[in-house]
Amino acid sequence: MADYNKTILVTGGAGYIGTHTVLQLLECGYRVVVVDNLDNSSPVALDRVKSLAGKRAHNLSFHEIDLRDKPALENIFSSTSFDAVIHFAGLKAVGESVEKPLLYFDNNLVGTIILLEVMAAHGCKKLVFSSSATVYGWPKEVPCTEEFPTCAMNPYGRTKLFIEEICRDIYRADSEWKIILLRYFNPVGAHPSGQIGEDPRGIPNNLMPFVQQVAVGRRPALTVFGTDYSTNDGTGVRDYIHVVDLADGHIAALNKLGEPSIGCEVYNLGTGKGTSVLEMVTAFEKSSGKKIPLNIAGRRPGDAEIVYASTEKAERELNWKAKYGIEEMCRDQWNWASQNPHGYGSPDKPLKD
Ligand code: UD1
Repeated sequence: MADYNKTILVTGGAGYIGTHTVLQLLECGYRVVVVDNLDNSSPVALDRVKSLAGKRAHNLSFHEIDLRDKPALENIFSSTSFDAVIHFAGLKAVGESVEKPLLYFDNNLVGTIILLEVMAAHGCKKLVFSSSATVYGWPKEVPCTEEFPTCAMNPYGRTKLFIEEICRDIYRADSEWKIILLRYFNPVGAHPSGQIGEDPRGIPNNLMPFVQQVAVGRRPALTVFGTDYSTNDGTGVRDYIHVVDLADGHIAALNKLGEPSIGCEVYNLGTGKGTSVLEMVTAFEKSSGKKIPLNIAGRRPGDAEIVYASTEKAERELNWKAKYGIEEMCRDQWNWASQNPHGYGSPDKPLKD
């Protein structure tokens, strides 16, 4: 599996999915250059990745830059020849995107356009992009296949859709491009070492980071958004996927980019299984031995009822399939949370919160 000759640029490589992917790239023998503006991430995360990577740590370098800083990005492409780019960098808080749409369009769209321009100028035309199941909106049926109609429920989702379209257009204009759009379902869990994991800034928007903060005593209770959905227990159903499986999906995508003429293709990365909010909470309570107090509230605006992936296309064409189940996701999430109750910060000197 080792690929000593290949160098991959990873944007947003200090973030949650980024760090897990960078570690797997290093373990597979890739050289990795991370660019990240550290807007929503910590440099400590990359130090941890280095210590986990052991003797491969020297294959990782980091530049604190914003993708919108074109001269800085140009510099990096001038000094290194990249085989491919994995593009994670972007803002992802739905509520914030509704309040500050221009911030999202500037950061996510302008950042991506500059990245694509610099890649094209340097002849690097292989890209893996982090898209999201958010583009399925409230699907009419499940499982969601890649052919389903797409829509945007908010400015954040619109940036994902726009970038998908931009990628299709640049491929239509220049068939040398090879692009894989990965639609992530709900990434949870952490590396089994407990050394890297999700550490959101401020009040978590997503279910499992919130549950984890309740478990370590940082928040009193989880608010359950809606118990009147047409699901077994009335709570929303999602396709939770272990972040290590998700990271593995990126290695599979890079392998796919090595094939001739793949064009611009989209793949779901999910498990194909739906789990409700209450099932997730129960599984976490079992793994952690902690009781999660609940407040029952109304539906969160913009939330869908049931979303889970069809995994067939990724299995068939990427030769990739998620290995881990809910139990492992909760076990590893708790392992990370219990070892790092304040994420990458400390109670006296929180990096975030
Ligand atoms: C959310 C975003 C989606 C984004 C994804 C990844 C919304 C409407 N959707 O997806 O656009 O791509 O995160 O960042 O924000 N829940 C609670 N209490 C909480 C948090 C969540 O009950 O405190 C429930 C939700 O109602 C949902 C489930 O848990 O049923 C999962 O929520 P979440 O983790 O936020 O993921 P998504 O809503 O699927």
